Formats: sequence, C-alpha cells, structure tokens
Amino acid sequence: MRALQGGLAVALAVCSCSKARPREGTLAQPVSWEEDISSLFAAQCNSCHSGATAAAGYRTTSYLEALGPTSDPVATAGDPNSRVLHVIDPAVADQNHQAPAAAAFAQTQEWVVPGLLSFFRSGIHEGGIMNPNDPEFHKYLVRDRNWNFSECQSCHGTDLNGGKAAVSCNDCHALQVGSDGVPTCTSCHGNSQTQAPAPPRSLTGATSSSDSGVGAHQAHLFGHFVLSAPIACSACHLVPAEVGSKGHLDTLRPAELTFSGLAVADSAQPMWNGVSCSNTYCHGGGAKLVNDTVALLQTPVWTGSSQVFCGACHGLPPQNGRHPGGITYPDCARCHGATVTTGGAIIVSGPPEARTSCHINGVIDVFTTSCP
Ligand code: HEC
Ligand code: HEC
Ligand code: HEC
Ligand code: HEC
Ligand code: HEC
Ligand code: HEC
Ligand code: HEC
Repeated sequence: MRALQGGLAVALAVCSCSKARPREGTLAQPVSWEEDISSLFAAQCNSCHSGATAAAGYRTTSYLEALGPTSDPVATAGDPNSRVLHVIDPAVADQNHQAPAAAAFAQTQEWVVPGLLSFFRSGIHEGGIMNPNDPEFHKYLVRDRNWNFSECQSCHGTDLNGGKAAVSCNDCHALQVGSDGVPTCTSCHGNSQTQAPAPPRSLTGATSSSDSGVGAHQAHLFGHFVLSAPIACSACHLVPAEVGSKGHLDTLRPAELTFSGLAVADSAQPMWNGVSCSNTYCHGGGAKLVNDTVALLQTPVWTGSSQVFCGACHGLPPQNGRHPGGITYPDCARCHGATVTTGGAIIVSGPPEARTSCHINGVIDVFTTSCP
C-alpha cells in the first residue's frame, strides 16, 4: 500500500484488500493499463480487436473490454495461464498473433501476473479499482463504507461529476446521492418523480424501454395497458429493505429475477433467459392456461412492444375444454361479468397507481360480482 494522505487515506487503506499488490520494477511502478497497456494494445491489437466486427467479439479498446466478460475473463490477475497470455505467447501463437505476440507478450505478462491487471498507477487508489473480479474493485470501497459516498464525494465532487479528482462517476453510472453521502432508493436507479426505484432510469442512466435495464418496468408498475392492477416489484424481484440487504448488491449485474406471488400463481414456473419471460402466470403460464392451444403470445420479450393484445396470453375464449361449443368474443361478460364489459373491455377501477381489477388477479372469476 502506498502512502496516502491524511485520515481519509487511512480510511481508504483500511478497507482495501488484504492481498498486497506486488510491484514490477520499482515498488510504485506496476505495469498498468492507463500508462502502458492501453497504448500497446492500440498499436498491436485494435486493428483486429475493435468495433462491431472485432475478431472473436473481443475488444481491446477499453480496460473493461480487454479483461473480457466478468463471467469468463480473458485475463485473471496473477494468473500466468490467463487466456490472453496463451493466445499471444510467441511459442504457441497462431498466424494472426505471431507479430503482435512478439511485440506485446513480455509487457502483457508483466501486466497480468506481477502487475495484477492494474488499472493505473495512482497515488490514491489500488490497481484493482476498475476490475470487477478484483477484491479492490471500487464498488467494494463503497460497500465497506456501508454504502456511504461521502468520502468519494470529497474528491469526486458532491454531485460525483468529477470534483477535484476530475473523474466523473456518472460516465458509467447515473448516481444521485445526497450531499451527506447517504443514498436513497432512487440514488442508483429509478426516478424520484414516480417515487419508485424501478427503472427508468437504469443503473447506467438509460431511459428508453429498448434498454434491458429499463424494458417493460413502467408498463407493469403503472398498468399502461389498463389490463390489471399494477404489478408489484416482488412478483419479479426480491425487494431489499435496505441498500445493504442480502441479495441486493452482492453480485454483479445483471439484476436477479426471483419470481413470487402473482407470477407463480396456479403452479406457474416462470423462467427468464435474459431476453424474454416464459411460463409466468400473468402471461398464461398457469396450469389452467398453459395448454390453451389458441393463445398467441405467452413468451413476451422484455424490451418488445405490442405484446399484450386480447388473445395474446389466452384465447378468446381459451381452447382447453372449459368453453365448449360456439362461445365467441365478446360474449364473455355473460359468465365473467366482473372482469369484462358486455363490449369485451377489461373492467378496472381507481386511480392508476391504486387501480384494481378482477383481471390477472390470480383467480378465475366466473359468475362473481366482485373480486378478492
Ligand atoms: C491480425 C488480426 C489480429 C490481431 C492483430 C490480434 N488478434 Fe487476437 N484474435 C484474432 C482472431 C482472428 C481471433 C480469433 C481466432 C484466433 O484465436 O486466432 C483472435 C482471438 C483473440 C483472443 C481470444 C478471445 C477469446 O474470447 O477467447 C484473445 C484474448 C486475443 N485475440 C488477444 C489479442 C491481443 C492481446 C492482441 C494484441 C497483442 C491481438 N489479439 C491481436 C485476430 C487478431
Ligand atoms: C483523496 C481523493 C480521492 C478519494 C477520497 C476518492 N478518490 Fe477516486 N480518484 C481520485 C483521483 C485523483 C482519481 C484519478 C486517478 C488518480 O490520479 O489516482 C480517482 C479515480 C477513481 C476511479 C477510476 C475511474 C477512471 O475512469 O479513471 C474510480 C472508479 C474511483 N476513483 C472511485 C472512487 C470511490 C468509489 C471512492 C470512494 C470510496 C473514491 N474514488 C474516493 C481521487 C479520490
Ligand atoms: C469507467 C467506468 C466507471 C467509473 C468511472 C465508475 N464506475 Fe462504479 N462501476 C463500474 C462498473 C463496471 C461497475 C460494476 C457493475 C456491475 O457489473 O455490477 C460499477 C459498480 C459500482 C457500484 C455498485 C453499484 C452499481 O451501480 O453497480 C458503485 C456504488 C459504484 N460503482 C460507485 C462509483 C463511484 C462512486 C464512482 C466515482 C467515484 C464510480 N463508481 C466510477 C464502472 C465505473
Ligand atoms: C414484470 C417483472 C418485473 C417487475 C414487476 C419489476 N422488475 Fe425490475 N427487472 C425486471 C427485468 C426482466 C429486469 C432486467 C434484468 C436484466 O437486465 O437482465 C429488471 C431489472 C431491474 C433493475 C436493474 C436495472 C439495470 O439498470 O440493470 C432494477 C434496479 C430493478 N429491476 C428494480 C425494480 C424495482 C424497484 C421494481 C418495483 C418498483 C421492479 N424492478 C419491478 C423485471 C421486473
Ligand atoms: C448504491 C446503489 C443502489 C442503491 C442506493 C439502491 N440500489 Fe437497488 N440495485 C442496485 C444495483 C447495482 C442493482 C443490480 C444488482 C444485481 O446485479 O443483482 C440493483 C437492483 C435492485 C432490484 C432488482 C433485484 C436485484 O437485487 O437484482 C431491486 C428490486 C432494487 N434494486 C431495489 C432497491 C431499493 C428498494 C432500494 C432502497 C432500499 C435500492 N434498490 C437502492 C443499486 C442500488
Ligand atoms: C398479459 C396477459 C393477458 C392479456 C393480454 C389478456 N388476458 Fe385475460 N386473463 C389473463 C390471465 C392470466 C387470466 C387468468 C385469470 C386471472 O388471474 O384473472 C385471464 C382471465 C381472463 C378472463 C376470465 C375472467 C377472470 O377474470 O378470471 C377473461 C374474460 C379475460 N381474461 C378476458 C380478456 C380480454 C377481453 C382481453 C383483452 C382486452 C384479455 N383478457 C387480455 C391474462 C391476459
Ligand atoms: C358460458 C359461460 C362462459 C362464457 C360465455 C365464457 N366463459 Fe370463460 N370460463 C367459464 C368457466 C366455467 C371457466 C372455468 C372456471 C374454472 O376453471 O374455475 C372459464 C375460464 C376462463 C378462463 C381461465 C382459463 C380456463 O380455461 O379455465 C379464461 C381466460 C376465460 N374463461 C376467458 C373467457 C373469454 C375471453 C370469454 C369470452 C370470449 C369467455 N371466457 C366466455 C365460463 C365461460
């Protein structure tokens, strides 16, 4: 650990990882991304490993990309068997990599193994500060301060937009923390206007529903399609009581989906594959609807649109044996009069945020006058 200034520095030092970062050359001069590797890779690798058509889908144009996906990193701090070293080892390099390997291998090895993938040579932060797979990752600095940002604010600015450190946190996040450093639920995601911590805005500041961090949140929470009561966060997520609650920030993105309540009614077993949901009760995945042969769209795409029309989740009426002979839309109110009007429209009441409905409430309402 290098010398840090004053009490602040001591505090930063206390929580940094136990694993000392050995230095190559002089103790304070590890080979690092900003100072050495970024320009080396720009010269030797970017010609093939940049842009939308990067070779092997691997880009060397930023630190995070050069490390590879966090779930399957191309480089692991201290590991001489890291994939990147194998690929550019002159002894085994393929034709694509012979020339870059000769130029870059030794330096890259110094970076990965003794340099532990240092991001920069800083008088303030440890080299692992930008590596999500490193115990020194900056997220853990905030966590170890009980998610209080005030120390970060002292250098990065009260608004975290740069301050005297001249490095803005909001280049990568959309953080809105109070001046005392204590976050609220909408400090990292959501929108104080609606009082809901659900995106938009997403963690990176996105507001368009085509961004998977935003997706169909608002459609569910505010019932844009006027088909049901608002869907609670808890149908799809564990909702943390506090920022530091278990299950909230203890893994890296993407956010976890943990279905319960309405989503699993009638023995439904919902699945999320990162793009679409299948078998959710709400979209016709319950035991009574899952075998409906005329349902048109029971696997909605999270960032899609126009997926909740009449006939999507179940037929009009469903074809599963319970609607024998000749019933046609809009002849539903005869038996489902608490759910639909005689014209075939869904009945809802109350203001948007406190709307109620017999439709998509977990119960099949036949010959009822009101719903639980
Ligand atoms: C002439 C084009 C070219 C250059 C220059 C080049 N590569 Fe590659 N690289 C490829 C191709 C093509 C592949 C995929 C097939 C293969 O391994 O040859 C690849 C694959 C890789 C992989 C494997 C990615 C994975 O996810 O498994 C790594 C790591 C890699 N290159 C690193 C580098 C580094 C580091 C440099 C610069 C020192 C570099 N490459 C320079 C063309 C290139
Ligand atoms: C004593 C001042 C100081 C404090 C306190 C501080 N930082 Fe920094 N930080 C800097 C400076 C200066 C840089 C720019 C690089 C350098 O010179 O070290 C930086 C860079 C960074 C970077 C690298 C970003 C990039 O793209 O270059 C991250 C991430 C970061 N700080 C996170 C934090 C977090 C999180 C906290 C609070 C736990 C924090 N910092 C507290 C001064 C500080
Ligand atoms: C160069 C991009 C970058 C910069 C600059 C940056 N971060 Fe991060 N930060 C990340 C990444 C990547 C993650 C990990 C996201 C994940 O996979 O969970 C992260 C995670 C976090 C987390 C955990 C919650 C979350 O949103 O994922 C906090 C808190 C955090 N950063 C605070 C800061 C602070 C404070 C600063 C400025 C002092 C800062 N970051 C600057 C890239 C950055
Ligand atoms: C209908 C299911 C559903 C409901 C209800 C729901 N979410 Fe989500 N949420 C998702 C999906 C799907 C994702 C995308 C996960 C991914 O990125 O892989 C997500 C992602 C998120 C993210 C991460 C955003 C990002 O930037 O990556 C946050 C935060 C979040 N939800 C909070 C909430 C909160 C708070 C509520 C209630 C106010 C809520 N969600 C209600 C399905 C839901
Ligand atoms: C320091 C930034 C931060 C604050 C403050 C914060 N969140 Fe989150 N939240 C995140 C991140 C990052 C994720 C994605 C976590 C993941 O990848 O599992 C997330 C995800 C979620 C999710 C989706 C489920 C999950 O855990 O993945 C919900 C729901 C949620 N937050 C609700 C809340 C509530 C309620 C509060 C206030 C008690 C809150 N958040 C405060 C950063 C924050
Ligand atoms: C997002 C999926 C979805 C869409 C779209 C949908 N439904 Fe439903 N519908 C359901 C589910 C799930 C049920 C099962 C019973 C429940 O939970 O209310 C249901 C039940 C019903 C019932 C039986 C009465 C009841 O409340 O149980 C009627 C009638 C009905 N829907 C009519 C319609 C009409 C008319 C439309 C178009 C305006 C429509 N549905 C669109 C999911 C949907
Ligand atoms: C003659 C009475 C009758 C009419 C008319 C009727 N239904 Fe039903 N519906 C029922 C009965 C009975 C059930 C089964 C209730 C149970 O299983 O608890 C049912 C169940 C349902 C369900 C739940 C899934 C299932 O198959 O059990 C849906 C959805 C549904 N009806 C939609 C409709 C729609 C849409 C219309 C109008 C096109 C309609 N029904 C017209 C009597 C009727």
